[in-house]
Amino acid sequence: MYLCTLFANTYMIIPESIDHNKLPEHIAIIMDGNGRWAKERGEDRVYGHYEGVRSVRAIVDACGELGIGYLTLYAFSAENWNRPKAEVDALMELLVNTIRKEVEELKKNNVRLHVIGDFESLPEICQQELNEAMEMTAANTGLNLILALSYSSRDEIAMAVRKIAEKVKSGALRIEDITDETIKQHLYTAAFPDPELMIRTSGEYRISNYLLYQLAYSELYFTNVHWPDFRKENLYEALLNYQQRERRFGKTSEQIQSVNPTHAQGNEE
Ligand code: IPE
Ligand code: IPE
Ligand code: MG
Repeated sequence: MYLCTLFANTYMIIPESIDHNKLPEHIAIIMDGNGRWAKERGEDRVYGHYEGVRSVRAIVDACGELGIGYLTLYAFSAENWNRPKAEVDALMELLVNTIRKEVEELKKNNVRLHVIGDFESLPEICQQELNEAMEMTAANTGLNLILALSYSSRDEIAMAVRKIAEKVKSGALRIEDITDETIKQHLYTAAFPDPELMIRTSGEYRISNYLLYQLAYSELYFTNVHWPDFRKENLYEALLNYQQRERRFGKTSEQIQSVNPTHAQGNEE
């Protein structure tokens, strides 16, 4: 197992077929399937969450190596509070221990940590640990690692609407000046670009209240691999698949190809 992890984390070579000029700037992931992965092995669901941390490490590492700007990981949804208390407690404890253990590595690897979600709803100790880690990595200029914790996209949008309404009420903003950009600026993700690629593991084909506004034009990639098995090679596979796609944004294929013929060539199957 140790060797295997070492291999996945350190020695996996980036495939030559990956085009470094066509990488997404922002990748968002729904890390799903931890519980089923553990059950398949006759273990408690929590074991799957522990093992999932190895995948987080590998993917953060891979994104750093590839020069990806932003990686958002769905680690705990607002709906996940409804799970059995023992599982929620174990997840919060795992979060604290992982952050504590990994912060030096994040610092060393030039990774900057951010959190989106209902921060105040997290246990005090989690908030403390996260605040410390965010402070310690604030000057880092490499990968931005964004953890979605106690996150609900609908709540995020409702929060943005409340903030905008407040500004209108106080006279700081005119109704006619509210645009798509105004909404973006009031989301948790105001400082980040929209993800070009969203990956969900474990064979579930849904968004589960994740980045509903931000994913408007993202390419979606679904894999049957459970999160604890998702390693660098699986990320490379997702990226290769992404690079085969033609992002048209409402235009025709011909329009896209006339602007970027090299891009078009890459899309010929
Ligand atoms: C994802 O794995 C991790 C969290 C939601 C915290 P799950 O725990 O949802 O695993 P499955 O979907 O039940 O297999
Ligand atoms: C979504 O996974 C949340 C995280 C991955 C943290 P879930 O497994 O909780 O999603 P649903 O409820 O099955 O859609
Ligand atoms: Mg799940």
